[in-house]
Amino acid sequence: MDSESNTSTGHVSRKAVLRAALAAGMAAPAVLMGVPALARTLSGGEAPLDLTPECDDGDDLTLPQMEGPYFKPNSPLRSSMPDGTGTRLTVGGYVFGRACRPVSGVLLDFWQADNNGAYDNTGFKFRGHQFTGADGSFKLTTIVPGLYPGRTRHIHVKVQAPGRPILTTQLYFPNEPRNNTDTIFDPRLLMTVRDGSGGREAAFDFVIDVPQNPGPTPTATTTTAPPGGTWTAGRAYAAGDRVTYGGVGYVCLQAHTAMGGWEPPNVPALWRVG
Ligand SMILES: [Fe+2]
Repeated sequence: MDSESNTSTGHVSRKAVLRAALAAGMAAPAVLMGVPALARTLSGGEAPLDLTPECDDGDDLTLPQMEGPYFKPNSPLRSSMPDGTGTRLTVGGYVFGRACRPVSGVLLDFWQADNNGAYDNTGFKFRGHQFTGADGSFKLTTIVPGLYPGRTRHIHVKVQAPGRPILTTQLYFPNEPRNNTDTIFDPRLLMTVRDGSGGREAAFDFVIDVPQNPGPTPTATTTTAPPGGTWTAGRAYAAGDRVTYGGVGYVCLQAHTAMGGWEPPNVPALWRVG
């Protein structure tokens, strides 16, 4: 363990959390593995340690990576991938903003290869989007993606907070031989992965470019929907609803409550032109 001191930004640093966890007799949390992950409490018989999540010592944002050739818009709204066989895998974590506060309502759109290393380019197997909860958490239930030529094992994801830019990146698995030869691989995007009951359990926390200090997290502005079906923040839409935005017609793909920043052109997972 190094001797780096706490930051002076007013919050408990990741290393301070680590120290507290170690002092409390807990197993070494994820941060020891050098990933940008929350020093989380561990299960397996340990009593929960009630710590405020802290995302990082400073302002390190999660690294972007190339989208690759296999992204498709309009993925299903789901946090569990029901298709195919393979080693079961859960990926859980939090999305934080610049001030290390969790961000709710963040869209995470995952896509990955199946057990054989193939992407479903005609349907939506192993594709799905979800939103972070009020505590900024997410959980994906899937399988360990297979390998395909030229790449190490990885999961693709797009992360977007309301009204903020899209972060496109990839998540990696530790102890993969191909991590040493894949030129796209970056150890800063390693998940922590361990064996769990019935499969593998991975964790990763995102830090995205959402200003939180002094300004608040972008929130929805509720207004009264004008006549004529114009898209309106604060209004609940059902699949199939039609609206206009900027003079263009859109069809709702997934039931949701509209928020500022989620205008139809910005969210292909929720709206298509039609
Ligand atoms: Fe890929």
